Amino acid sequence: MAKSYEYTLSKPDPQILVIFGASGDLSHKKLMPALAALSGRNALPDQFTVVGVALDHMQSSDFAQMALGTVDDPSPSWKELTKEFHYIEGNYSDDTTFQQLSVLLDEIDKRNGTLGNRIYYLATIPELFAVVAEGLKKAGCVQLPGTSPFTRIVIEKPFGIDLASAIELNQHLHSCFDESQIFRIDHYLGKETVQNVLALRFANAIFEPVWNRRYMSCVQITVAESIGIEHRGAYYDKAGALRDIVQNHLMQVVALTLMEPPTTISAQDVPPVKVKLLKSIEIVNSDHAARRAVRGQYGKGVIDAQSVLAYREEDGIPEDSDTETFVAMKLEVDNWRWAGMPVFIRTGKRLPERVTEVVLEFKGVPHLAFKSRQARLLEPNRLVMRIQPDEGITLRFGAKAPGESFDLRSVSMDFSYQDTFKQAPPDAYERLIHDAMIGDHMLFLRSDEVEQAWKIVDPFLEAFRNSDVPLSTYRSGSWGPHDADILLAREGHEWANP
Ligand code: BG6
Repeated sequence: MAKSYEYTLSKPDPQILVIFGASGDLSHKKLMPALAALSGRNALPDQFTVVGVALDHMQSSDFAQMALGTVDDPSPSWKELTKEFHYIEGNYSDDTTFQQLSVLLDEIDKRNGTLGNRIYYLATIPELFAVVAEGLKKAGCVQLPGTSPFTRIVIEKPFGIDLASAIELNQHLHSCFDESQIFRIDHYLGKETVQNVLALRFANAIFEPVWNRRYMSCVQITVAESIGIEHRGAYYDKAGALRDIVQNHLMQVVALTLMEPPTTISAQDVPPVKVKLLKSIEIVNSDHAARRAVRGQYGKGVIDAQSVLAYREEDGIPEDSDTETFVAMKLEVDNWRWAGMPVFIRTGKRLPERVTEVVLEFKGVPHLAFKSRQARLLEPNRLVMRIQPDEGITLRFGAKAPGESFDLRSVSMDFSYQDTFKQAPPDAYERLIHDAMIGDHMLFLRSDEVEQAWKIVDPFLEAFRNSDVPLSTYRSGSWGPHDADILLAREGHEWANP
């Protein structure tokens, strides 16, 4: 029987984690469960506590109770740990909030031996990122970079709403923190299977020789979700799919899939090659964007045998909203490896299933010796990296079916993460919080990376804003507007739907 692999993590140095927006959704749904899991794995520092800060009226004991209640079956260590959690009720534009925090943190250091090390996690709305950073700086809560004790700040997407605002946000952050102290989270990078793209590409000799325009005919990357916008109407209607998924998660997967090999898999060497790849993606002008992109909005439909509402009928969404919930785009990568080969990306809500995958499609053989119609119609060879769910890798190729004639069929060679490692991959936040605690930047975004991704996306934002790209309605439960099929058909391709 295959062996079950232990997912091990090292122990970080003593520290205090301060969560701003501690009573919010992110803290509740992601941060606390991730901390609980880390505590269960004995991967939190020996001297450690959490301080929550938020506007809500709450005592430390309520906060501790909330943290405990975020997991179904809390481990004894999580129960013990949460008892010591602290909470500060405060407004971020009020200096006294930060002064109070500073005093509390010093007290905890004295009592718990946390040595002055701090991680500030901004789980707030993005409008408050700069306010909190400045509040911390003013109250003397930020140590110089590269010294002991350490100060780190973790922020969540969206990093701005376009290039100009991203630059402004970076400037604000840099006026309070050094880049080396900033950890920008894109939770896709915390997914084991996204990291597996690196393993597949750079630990195996067989893929590299064919990983280019000479052997591949296109790359398709899909981030499909069957859920709608849930209770996030107010945020989503301002963001849309381009800002919500394309600028960040999709660009990261594109970069890891297409970048050059790094010298080492490390924080020093991986981000520069990712940025270099993003810099080779053609920046279109907004007139051309119209020919390269398709956008849609979900209408009514049926998903998993349930009728679902149209986007415009969702809570908090104006009846005439023209926010896109689906985007498909063709990117061109102007470099030696990929010139002329299309890269198609798409994302959408209320699609038939939740699946994120990268499909690398290969060119046909130079001469087809099999003369049957079926051989001519055989689907192209495809290497599929499934990021989620059913994490794994599949190679699709033609094989002879039993019988006298050469009856060719497409068959699969499969690697399943779950079957091989006998465990589901851990949640991305677990890995990312831990990496921030040990100060490893490899899976976080640099400021230039974020800005470069906005440079690619900005012309499309403008084309959408000016309605240069028509907004089509697609039926919930379908694979998006028909125009997305045409986008590929124009180049002789079709989406490899799962
Ligand atoms: C978030 C988006 O960043 O990613 C959500 O804001 C989306 O709209 C989510 O649903 C998808 O994440 P995952 O890990 O479920 O693919």
